[in-house]
Amino acid sequence: MASHFILIDTENLTKKFGEVTAVDSVTLSVKEGEVFAFLGPNGAGKTTFVRMMSCLISKTSGYGRVGNFEIGNKSDQEKIRRMVGVLPENVGLYEELSPYDNLDFYGRYYRLSEEKRRDRIEFFLKMLDLWDRRNAAVATFSKGMKQKLAIARALIHDPQVLFLDEPTANLDPEASKMVRDFILELKKEKRTIFLNTHLLDEAERICDRVAIVKTKLIAIGSPQELMRSLQGKKVRVQVQQVSDIIVSELKNAGYRVEEVHPDSLVISVNDFTRDNPAILKIIEASGGKVEFINEISSSLEDVYLKLVKAE
Ligand SMILES: Nc1ncnc2c1ncn2[C@@H]1O[C@H](COP(=O)(O)OP(=O)(O)O)[C@@H](O)[C@H]1O
Ligand SMILES: [Mg+2]
Repeated sequence: MASHFILIDTENLTKKFGEVTAVDSVTLSVKEGEVFAFLGPNGAGKTTFVRMMSCLISKTSGYGRVGNFEIGNKSDQEKIRRMVGVLPENVGLYEELSPYDNLDFYGRYYRLSEEKRRDRIEFFLKMLDLWDRRNAAVATFSKGMKQKLAIARALIHDPQVLFLDEPTANLDPEASKMVRDFILELKKEKRTIFLNTHLLDEAERICDRVAIVKTKLIAIGSPQELMRSLQGKKVRVQVQQVSDIIVSELKNAGYRVEEVHPDSLVISVNDFTRDNPAILKIIEASGGKVEFINEISSSLEDVYLKLVKAE
């Protein structure tokens, strides 16, 4: 059954805090093994969404499930908590404890056997290159290291879904890179990761699919799909000598000519493979000589800014 592979599923999921609607009718699904980004500016409802999905707060209306368990269903809460690991916005490690004991504390919380705890902790501390410092106080670690440890902590009970709420916020560029590389390593393990971020390049670099949110879901797709579907495609045609005839012939053929320069034109197109040769033909038939055609693609950043501003 296909639905078996959908790990996170919501339909019109909504959360209101009094008069404020934080999450408005969000419908989405995330497949097993997918790395999914919830991308939106501050106050977009990202944290609220994750807190609902991990049963930390209740929903107001709509539907949501993790695996086969429904949020808001009392008897499913414990099962959802075991299925998910959460890196919250404010991490909070026990600074005076060692990384080993920090992880062990959470392993006990999830009632993992001693053997299992030992195995998992060793696995993560070696992966993080902290095995030699397993007994040092966490207070002596760099910010990046602490954040990676906090992610490992969220994974200690081997959850199927990992929610990361702005994992690189407040980190310097070097620490951010450290954390991002770690997430990419987790991705190799085929873990399902739901990442909240307000950073576009983070979403673009790490994730298979991105949902742009601002209380409502604005757009969803792979970074490439979003760019393709939301941008206007254009070409810049370098022509030896642009003439009125060339411009009017292009218009007659139904093309939107966006810019006219002495030696170049910018034209909107629907489909590069079909339109580029057609444009070339029209220009040459009107006595022009085409030197080259450049495809102009807007970045996901343009798309993001346009969407978030438009709402
Ligand atoms: N516990 C709360 N009580 C009242 N309002 C809240 C609470 N948590 C969040 N909000 C409001 O909900 C909206 C979304 O917040 P949040 O989910 O934290 O956004 P994001 O994580 O995208 O920055 C904001 O307007 C915020 O002020
Ligand atoms: Mg937040």
